Amino acid sequence: MNNLKNLRGTIDLLPEQLTKWQNVEKIIKRELLRASIREIRTPIIEMTELFIRGIGEGTDVVNKEMYTFDDRGKRSCTLRPEGTASVARAVINNNILKGSLNKLWYMGPMFRYERPQAGRQRQFHQLGVEFIGYESPNSDVKIISLAWDILQKLGVRELNLEINSLGDIDDRKAYQTFFLKFLEDNLDKLDDDSKARIYKNPLRILDTKNAKTQEILENAPKLFDFLSEKSMERYSIIKNKLEELQIPYKENNRLVRGLDYYSHTAFEITSGSLGSQATVCGGGRYDDLIEQMGGGRIPAIGFAIGLERLILIAGNELDKRREIDIYIVNKGEFAESLALNLSRKLSDFDLITELDMSGASFSKQFKKAGKCKTKSVIVIGDDEALKKEFSIRLFNDKRGDDNQITLSIKDDVKLEKWIRKNLH
Ligand code: HAM
Repeated sequence: MNNLKNLRGTIDLLPEQLTKWQNVEKIIKRELLRASIREIRTPIIEMTELFIRGIGEGTDVVNKEMYTFDDRGKRSCTLRPEGTASVARAVINNNILKGSLNKLWYMGPMFRYERPQAGRQRQFHQLGVEFIGYESPNSDVKIISLAWDILQKLGVRELNLEINSLGDIDDRKAYQTFFLKFLEDNLDKLDDDSKARIYKNPLRILDTKNAKTQEILENAPKLFDFLSEKSMERYSIIKNKLEELQIPYKENNRLVRGLDYYSHTAFEITSGSLGSQATVCGGGRYDDLIEQMGGGRIPAIGFAIGLERLILIAGNELDKRREIDIYIVNKGEFAESLALNLSRKLSDFDLITELDMSGASFSKQFKKAGKCKTKSVIVIGDDEALKKEFSIRLFNDKRGDDNQITLSIKDDVKLEKWIRKNLH
C-alpha cells in the first residue's frame, strides 16, 4: 500500500523548524501584550455565508479559493480563509464593544485553495490584529506602526510599506459610474474573468493578475482622483503622522487589496528578502463591514501578517534553541526509580532536563548527553541509588571530580544552591 501523503499545499512543521516559530511567536506576543491588545480565538470553521457577505462575492478568495463543503446536517461550511470576518462576527455576537476588549489579536491557520509555491500554501498561518470601534487617523497610524515595528523587532530586512486610500463608500460609488463606462467601452479587450465581474463587482477588476487587462487599466480613471476633500484630508493626516514617526512609505494609488471590505486606508508591507510572494503583511480600514454584517455602525482597522513568509525572513538568531541544562544518566533498577523521582523534582525549576530512559550503558548515555550539548549531568548508579544519593556536575568541565558533588535526594537546599550557582 502506498504511504498516505499530506494534502497538497499543507506541510508538517517539525520540531527543528518550530524553534524559530516559537521564538517568533514569543516576541510577537510580547509586543501585543505591551500594546495592551488582547487575544481572541474564533472557530476555524464558519458558515460559508459569513465569508461571502464579509469578504465579498466577486473576490478571488470567495470565488476560487475557499474550502467549502456541506456538513452532515447539509449546512454549507467553510474553513476560514482569513480572520477579519470572523472577528467582526464575534464582536457582534458577543457584544464585545460593550466592554473594553476592542483591540484584538489572533494567530492560527487559514485555508485558501491557491497554487502552492514558495511562500504560498493552502493551509497557512496568520497573525491578525483588529482595532474595533476606532475611527481616528491615529488608530490607522498605530496599526501601521505596530505591524512595522513587529517586523523590525523580528529582524526582517528590506521592508517596504505601500499605502493608499480607497475613500469611503460615496467616493467609490462616484468612481464606479465612470469606471464602468470605461470597462464597457473596452469590453472586448478584457479577459474572461474581468468580463464576468463587470456587473457583479467591477472594482475587483482592479486586482486582475491578467497582464493584458492590467495594460488596458493603465488608461482607466483612477479611484484616487475621486476621493472627496474629507477623505483626502484624512489620508494626508496619516501620511504626515507616518513621517513624524519616521516610518518610510511609498504611495501606491493602484493598491486596492483583494478583499471587498476596505475603505480609506489600505496598506501592504513587502520584503525584498522574499521572492515573488513578497507581501508579508496586508491590512486596512473596514468601516462598513460590521454594519453590513448586521452590527451597528462600528469603524475598524486591522492587518494580518503571513507567518510562513515571516519565518522565512525573520532573523536567523531566532533559530536558536535553548540548550539542555541537565541530562540525567541512570543505570540499574534502583537508579531508574531515583532518576524518575529526581526529574519530577527538577520540573519545579526553570530548567530543561532530559531524562535518559534508554537503559543503555553508562558510556552510551554519556555519548548522548554530549550530543545534546547539555550543560550538566546527573549520574545515578544502583550503588548511589540504594543510598538515595546522586552526583551532579558540569558536563564539559575539565576539573573532573573536583567539580562533582554528591547529594542526597532529600537535600533540596544544596541542589537548589548548586543550580543557582552553575545553571542560572
Ligand atoms: P490578506 O492580504 O489576504 O489580508 O492576507 C494577509 C497576509 O497573509 C498576506 O500578506 C500573506 O503574507 C499571507 N497569506 C495570504 N495568503 C497566503 C497563502 N496562500 N500562503 C501563505 N501566506 C498567505 C487578510 O487576510 C486580511 N484579513 C488582513 C486584514 C486584517 N485586514 C484588516 N484586518
